[in-house]
Amino acid sequence: MTSQIKSFEDYQETYARSVADPEGFWAEQAETFTWRKPWRQSLKWNFREPRVKWFVGGRLNITENCLDRHLATRGNQVALLFEPNEKGARARKITYKQLYGLVCQFANALKAQGVKKGDRVCIYMPMTPELAVAVLACARIGAVHSVVFAGFSAISLADRIKDAQAKVVLTSDYNARGAKNIAVKAIVDEALALGCDSVEHVIVHQNTGGAVTMKAGRDIWWHEAVKGRRRTCKPTIVDSEDMLFILYTSGSTGKPKGVVHTHGGYMVYTEYTFRNVFQYQEGDIYWCTADIGWITGHSYIVYGPLLAGATSLMFEGVPTYPDAGRFWDIVQRHKVNIFYTAPTAIRALMAAGDQWVKGRRMSSLRVLGTVGEPINEEAWHWYNERVGKKRCPIVDTWWQTETGGIMITPLAGITPLKPCYATYPMPGIQPCLVDGNGNEIEGNDVEGMLCIKFPWPSILRTTYGDHERCRLTYFSTFKNKYFTGDGARRDANGLYRIIGRVDDVINVSGHRIGTAEVEDAINKAPNVVESAVVGYPHDIKGQGIFAYIISSEPVEDMAAFKSSVLNTVIRVIGPIAKPDKVLVVPGLPKTRSGKIMRRILRKIAEGDTSNLGDTSTLLNPEVVDTIKDGAQRI
Ligand code: WTA
Repeated sequence: MTSQIKSFEDYQETYARSVADPEGFWAEQAETFTWRKPWRQSLKWNFREPRVKWFVGGRLNITENCLDRHLATRGNQVALLFEPNEKGARARKITYKQLYGLVCQFANALKAQGVKKGDRVCIYMPMTPELAVAVLACARIGAVHSVVFAGFSAISLADRIKDAQAKVVLTSDYNARGAKNIAVKAIVDEALALGCDSVEHVIVHQNTGGAVTMKAGRDIWWHEAVKGRRRTCKPTIVDSEDMLFILYTSGSTGKPKGVVHTHGGYMVYTEYTFRNVFQYQEGDIYWCTADIGWITGHSYIVYGPLLAGATSLMFEGVPTYPDAGRFWDIVQRHKVNIFYTAPTAIRALMAAGDQWVKGRRMSSLRVLGTVGEPINEEAWHWYNERVGKKRCPIVDTWWQTETGGIMITPLAGITPLKPCYATYPMPGIQPCLVDGNGNEIEGNDVEGMLCIKFPWPSILRTTYGDHERCRLTYFSTFKNKYFTGDGARRDANGLYRIIGRVDDVINVSGHRIGTAEVEDAINKAPNVVESAVVGYPHDIKGQGIFAYIISSEPVEDMAAFKSSVLNTVIRVIGPIAKPDKVLVVPGLPKTRSGKIMRRILRKIAEGDTSNLGDTSTLLNPEVVDTIKDGAQRI
């Protein structure tokens, strides 16, 4: 086990040491894991290419550290505690010993389907224990998992399968989510019909038991695939820098990028942050409400907690099914000690009213966490008072898919809190604020673009198949720094507050969505000539999506036009990207060089039209007033 910080003084000392000697600090943490061959050098790096290697020459398997290592000491402890979608359905408890058996058995099944070290396996599954088993089974044999959130459309899934050249796809028959029953396997079939030539097999987990069509020779049932397979499987020993997984995420331009993480560094960092941020204590019931389809689920439902030997609760459903008391019911019934969720869920449950929290016995709660987007003060206080009864520290954890683990955060019960502040960096993390000219902003009570100056073990290594894109996106804006894409402020006492994205990425309900992606999708709708998409403040979602659209035909039935646009976005990307507001406009404000002036569109969407700046230099200044009038009416 890595070391655990015990007090704020301890944090300050540890931080100072970690910055003075990052290599030594992380080597000390790394030594607490099982390695099959020790590393020669702790770190090799430059941010120019970029090239970052941690624990160079070391050999290991991350699942040996998640599973085998715990068998002697906690084989009968629950590893995964599964709460099904239907309230009242029996929870499933999977011990470390059982999970080991399931992972090994499925790893053997994957091998039998021809999956080898380095092969990419796409996982498109709902939140069932088999999803976690699938992830770990890939890692067990050195295959690279690429989990795609099961809410994405067939087109998005196909794009990701093709980009990763996945050999096998793992899926389920249906996804039981709230009152919905989504035909997941049918979406996979649709995706594969879009020319995913690399795919040889599809393994289908029978979840709800609903009807599906199986393609002979290609598709195989999960239960058939594991039949007769042994429940032990020697881990494939890989290099510290071998690829563990790809996870696609949106940026300001182009298609989603495949962020790549590797075995060694990711393992050390996720376990260390899990234990320290949440101050995990032996025996705690820990619940992160994210979906494994996102980085939060990878790092803090699967890897971090299992590496630490914790009991990780997995919930199949949604916060409001069958009612807005579902989360609190689960907390009460399973005596959850650590609860980690997103501000959007807190806001939605807050809006549903206090009656859902009142009268619940939630005294088991000790630590609360948030992630994914800035939390507003009102939600922070409601979470603190109504859920935590003012006795549970809230850790507001800032991080990204690219960072692999939590970067700036309070340590529960240790760091003095300030509402809406992510407060201080984790040991080993060296943040800085930079101005528009790339100069570092020193001192306190300042605001700027958030960068990181030195590598940490779980920094992304590349974007799959396109290293230059990784360099351009993260390492070229500011010399020798990793650029996060976020703006932040450092208050008078040096505490960090994350303000939000400074690029063309919108954060809707904690989901990262690129405006360019949504525009591309909208442009595929009938009669759409051109579109521009911006974010605007939304009470529940944090940000909503506002779409300005030029139509080739006069729009007579606005409701029909809007639904055709929405359906197109759902078909191309998925429901998470559908615009909240659609405005048909005669033109988009453009500079003389033809660039859309998003700044103006953003202001109009925010309802702040008092100061739009100088519009006289636009190519078409006359459209601004029309757009303003239109926006006021919707
Ligand atoms: C935002 C999620 C404010 C931020 C782990 C970041 C946050 C993006 C916070 C990454 C927070 C995440 N406060 N903003 N505590 N946590 N963000 O890759 O804009 O899905 O860049 O990773 O979410 O989103 P991603």
